[in-house]
Amino acid sequence: MKKIAVLSSGGDAPGMNAAIRAVCRTALYYGTACYGVYRGYQGLIDGEIKKLETTDVSNIIQRGGTILKTARSEEFMHAAGRKKAAENLKKHGIDGLVIIGGDGSFRGAQKLQQEHNIAVVGIPGTIDNDIAGTDFTIGFDTALQTAVDAIDKIRDTAEAHDRIFIVEVMGRDAGYLALHSGISCGAEHVFIPEQEEDLEKLVRDITDDQRRKKLSNIIIVAEGDEFGGAKKLDDFLQKRISTIQTRVSILGHIQRGGSPTPNDRILASRMGYDAVLCLLAGENDKMIGIQKGEIRRISFSQTDNAKHAIANDLKEIARILTK
Ligand code: F6P
Repeated sequence: MKKIAVLSSGGDAPGMNAAIRAVCRTALYYGTACYGVYRGYQGLIDGEIKKLETTDVSNIIQRGGTILKTARSEEFMHAAGRKKAAENLKKHGIDGLVIIGGDGSFRGAQKLQQEHNIAVVGIPGTIDNDIAGTDFTIGFDTALQTAVDAIDKIRDTAEAHDRIFIVEVMGRDAGYLALHSGISCGAEHVFIPEQEEDLEKLVRDITDDQRRKKLSNIIIVAEGDEFGGAKKLDDFLQKRISTIQTRVSILGHIQRGGSPTPNDRILASRMGYDAVLCLLAGENDKMIGIQKGEIRRISFSQTDNAKHAIANDLKEIARILTK
């Protein structure tokens, strides 16, 4: 393989730049040219492709966001869009593509492979940590650190005012950030999409707390929780318990930005390196994952329609320790 390309797709995640750097430098080290595709699949369709040299990825390992920019492309979901994308790759003589993104981006990559015989390898990059086949995705560790820093600060003001704070963390359909930040911050309650909520128990617990003069609480809600997020939970609580003072804090996109943690930089470097080795070995249609600390190549089909299940011990630990 003489030429490969790399792109980032979907929501950005801290550590994507470290992965781009690893892909580019590993490719160049093995005598393969590396191209950057700007703005994800949309850029691939629009021909936004540029050859990368080693200096193009200098001084980016510590930066959040993605130097290649990212997008969610509606056009790539259609065969005509993918055809244009494949033609652009072929025009440059590129026969391998590394996609850094979430599982939606991988589904697109699979189609590109099946329809146009482009070798594709995926690197899981999303703060949600919701991709089956890998214990961790790039960006999760940094987003968790950001959420924990914020919630620790919220705890100070919650206690000072004897208030109940409902903190919403990101995670479209995934409770990883919520559960991990809840355990890390000693939150009193954590609501995640993977678990049914017992709202009556929440009301009982808060009422008990009030009785024994424990007046401040942190309730963490995953954005994708079935109840509909922090604001709805707040409305519910205000209606049910008139004596409490509540505040809502939605952490939002702050969790997507910032300098990646060393763990994310290392994970991204390992995955980027192996993605190139995978393509050069003639293996494709794979995602590079990490399982029990080891880098693994997992076929895309194993990540299809599968959910990255939350470990039962974490749910149990949250249940026991948050009380
Ligand atoms: O998938 C990452 C993520 O940050 C989710 O947690 C969140 O629901 C979504 O992206 C937000 O997407 P956007 O930035 O396009 O609004």
